[in-house]
Amino acid sequence: MDLPFPFGLPFASAFYEALLALTFSMHLVFAQLVLGGTSWLVILGIKNAQHDNVARTLRDWLPFALGIAITLGVAPLLFLQIVDKQGFYTAGLLGSHRFMAILPALIVGFYLLYLQKKLGDTAQRSWRVLLPILTLAAFAFTGYSWSEQHALAQDRDVWVSMYAASRMHYSGAEVLPRFVFFASMSLPAVALAALLLTREAKRCAGVAWLGIVGMLVSAAWLVATMSPTRLEAWNGGNLAWSIALAVGVATAAVGWGLVRFRSRIRPALLVSSWLVVVLSIAALREALRIASLPSRAPAREQLANTHEHALEVGGFLVFLFFALFLACLFAWLSRRVASELSRSRGA
Ligand code: HEM
Repeated sequence: MDLPFPFGLPFASAFYEALLALTFSMHLVFAQLVLGGTSWLVILGIKNAQHDNVARTLRDWLPFALGIAITLGVAPLLFLQIVDKQGFYTAGLLGSHRFMAILPALIVGFYLLYLQKKLGDTAQRSWRVLLPILTLAAFAFTGYSWSEQHALAQDRDVWVSMYAASRMHYSGAEVLPRFVFFASMSLPAVALAALLLTREAKRCAGVAWLGIVGMLVSAAWLVATMSPTRLEAWNGGNLAWSIALAVGVATAAVGWGLVRFRSRIRPALLVSSWLVVVLSIAALREALRIASLPSRAPAREQLANTHEHALEVGGFLVFLFFALFLACLFAWLSRRVASELSRSRGA
């Protein structure tokens, strides 16, 4: 039986693949808080929930979460260029302005989040509906664009025809279910954060379950769109990651059941099961990427040599130093934001 990802790869490739999966997981958690948080604000706006504890908490924390999501996107962006240089650059060049449109979308989304935080409960009802819808559109566009870019980077057969037709938009069958999967996954993520911050057990459990059901449906849809060659990546060692994912989702569903029906909040159970889900998805995502790389032996060897060369360049200690420095900075900033928020609410 093959070894699970990243074992079984040459050392240098395993090293960069593992760092990509780890740093992507960190980015994903915060990107999902932003996506899930804005979706929840849309629902609360439509329900006309003024002076709502969850809405206020989301408005207070989302600008901070977005800042962290963007910062944490940089590390996987760098490792991606080492792991699959050809796929990353080709998809980037083919997507061109279409993909770069995420930059204005992010800027608009950032300002809209601050505007909602500033207006708070005083905003008129129409604004409490319209502003979250516009913000969600900006972040959904960004997330969808990353799914499109990721699927295009791996669909090597379509590159030439896209280039010949000067087409910037890629609409492969995997893109939409991928995005719907990540969007559904954002609901349990934001429900967990909201539960820890507000203790509103029943509402958070409802949102989490909605997301878990969405994940199951969209995962089945995604698998149905995959070619048999891509599906092979689920076999062998990666079966271990698939089992870990199923166990993580089942444990999370049970944990949310305890919250909903027994009012028992078990943060350790909910957080650890969710970490297993996120890490397994990041690992399976990389396993699928590896399966899509050119299958000819010389091409694979050349890629492994590139990874080995990258390892020789050095800089790991500098990376480690900045990773630790940033982790401490985030922890300190979170405490500052939390204490400022509780001070301003008390005032
Ligand atoms: C609110 C804004 C954002 C959202 C909602 C978001 C969401 C996502 C999602 C859903 C994916 C997974 C795509 C897939 O596998 O189908 C992804 C991947 C990724 N994102 Fe973000 N993202 C955001 C902003 C950013 C920014 C600003 C950066 C860069 C600084 C970034 C860097 C990445 C990278 C490097 C990947 C991995 C791409 C790959 O492996 O092909 N993201 N993002």
